[in-house]
Amino acid sequence: MMNIKIDNKEHSVEEGQTILEVCRNLDIEIPHFCYHPGLSIAGNCRMCLVEVKGMPKLMTACSTMVQDKMEIFTDSDVVKEARKGVLEFILLDHPVDCPICDKSGECDLQNYNFDYGIDQRRSIFPKERHKVEKISEKIYKNDNRCVLCTRCIRFLDEVTKTHEFTTIERGSHTHITCVDPEGLDQNPFASNIADLCPVGALGLNEFRFKKRVWLTEHVRAVCPGCEAGCNLTVDLHTKQTPLDPNVGPVVRFTSADNYSMQRFFICDEGRYSYSGYNETERRLLHPELDGEETTNGKAKAFLKEALSSELTGAVVLSPLASVEENYAAILLAEQMGYDLYRPSPFRKDLPEPALFIEKIKAPNHRMMKLLEVPKVTDMESSDYGVVLVLNSIGSIRDNSLVKILSLLKRAKYSITFEVERSEFSENSKLALPAPMFLEEDGCFINSSKRIQRSTGGLGYPEGVRPLWEWLFGNRFTNSESLLTQFSNEKLGIELSYEKIGKEGVEL
Ligand code: SF4
Ligand code: SF4
Ligand code: FES
Repeated sequence: MMNIKIDNKEHSVEEGQTILEVCRNLDIEIPHFCYHPGLSIAGNCRMCLVEVKGMPKLMTACSTMVQDKMEIFTDSDVVKEARKGVLEFILLDHPVDCPICDKSGECDLQNYNFDYGIDQRRSIFPKERHKVEKISEKIYKNDNRCVLCTRCIRFLDEVTKTHEFTTIERGSHTHITCVDPEGLDQNPFASNIADLCPVGALGLNEFRFKKRVWLTEHVRAVCPGCEAGCNLTVDLHTKQTPLDPNVGPVVRFTSADNYSMQRFFICDEGRYSYSGYNETERRLLHPELDGEETTNGKAKAFLKEALSSELTGAVVLSPLASVEENYAAILLAEQMGYDLYRPSPFRKDLPEPALFIEKIKAPNHRMMKLLEVPKVTDMESSDYGVVLVLNSIGSIRDNSLVKILSLLKRAKYSITFEVERSEFSENSKLALPAPMFLEEDGCFINSSKRIQRSTGGLGYPEGVRPLWEWLFGNRFTNSESLLTQFSNEKLGIELSYEKIGKEGVEL
């Protein structure tokens, strides 16, 4: 450990860190553009300048290592003057078009200029102008707003190693260019550069002019796209304004930092899957009995009749459903002596580069593997009187789908718990409407056996209730109580949402 002083306050810090990293850990703000914890240090924007006692000039906090007994000043007059100067240079050619910029509200340049910048341009030379370009199907580039931090170039060089961007020209004419637009289109991680860009120079075509970010609410979720279980920040469209275009409730997925997981980036397949949660055409919002909408009372009466029929039963879990939902179904199977099965999840070949993408396209397959639930395709008899199938359509292989359909068709009491009308719901006597991802709190166990929590920011739509309520009435008060019971009984540890926190828990 080393003893240092920052702004006249003493701190004891670990060796081997830069001034910027130390300050970030201590919640001391140092403005920066080119620094990003997931990329190499470039030291080119000069926004992070700080004063270090004994040094003749200001030092870049992102590239200066802390030393024992160092005295650092992050907020002195000379530091503030330097920040003002850097911002003045950056803004020389900037169009200052924040009102029509999609980054507005989450733009570092906008924020720093409010804090340290000037409000008058002193240069008499005209601003250099560049056309806004759609550089790929997914991304547009606006050089007028670029601060030349090179985060985008470093991401494509260092993380995906696909090298689609570079800088061209010199001096004040320097700008970023895409040398391989086709490669960018095929790069499965390309859209991360729009998140990485600290200003509005790179953006997603799909998000352009769609929503002001301050009119969204953010929740943290686990991506259901594959078994990797990347952490997402989900922007929800909860505040309507008269000028809003007609967008669905889910506006955007971006990466939520988790050092134990995917760190800072997500794949494009996961990112753009948000639009699926806005499609409501096939949504099941009421119970259906023999294909006809029915009341909750009649649905419950059918369930009661099925469960008291004393017929043999089978429960098919789902790699798409949360730990809590699957556990409710497991409890039913245990209570009734029903057989328990799992479908085989859908697999997809990995794109290039794959990084952390997983082949198995379901977020909770690992739970069933951990509990050693037999595969539905290995089942010996498919004649059951009562069959309950959890929502898994779209995430399972054809042979599992065929087997489940045959189970449903043969059963006297066939029940599905489904988000949308599907082959399963259409072949069941009773179809119960299930909450979709983002409507219910729930946990998922990923390929490296990390249990993580996903937040149900949207809440249950009218008519939709959790499975545990259909099966057990008031026995459980919330999903967390199922998680705690599951972790005690099946994992031998006590978990709560607080314990799982943002990072998750490795099992
Ligand atoms: S486009 Fe954005 S990320 Fe790339 S150099 Fe310019 S400001 Fe930085
Ligand atoms: S790698 Fe998998 S979990 Fe991660 S963002 Fe992509 S689809 Fe989602
Ligand atoms: S953040 Fe240090 S020079 Fe850019």
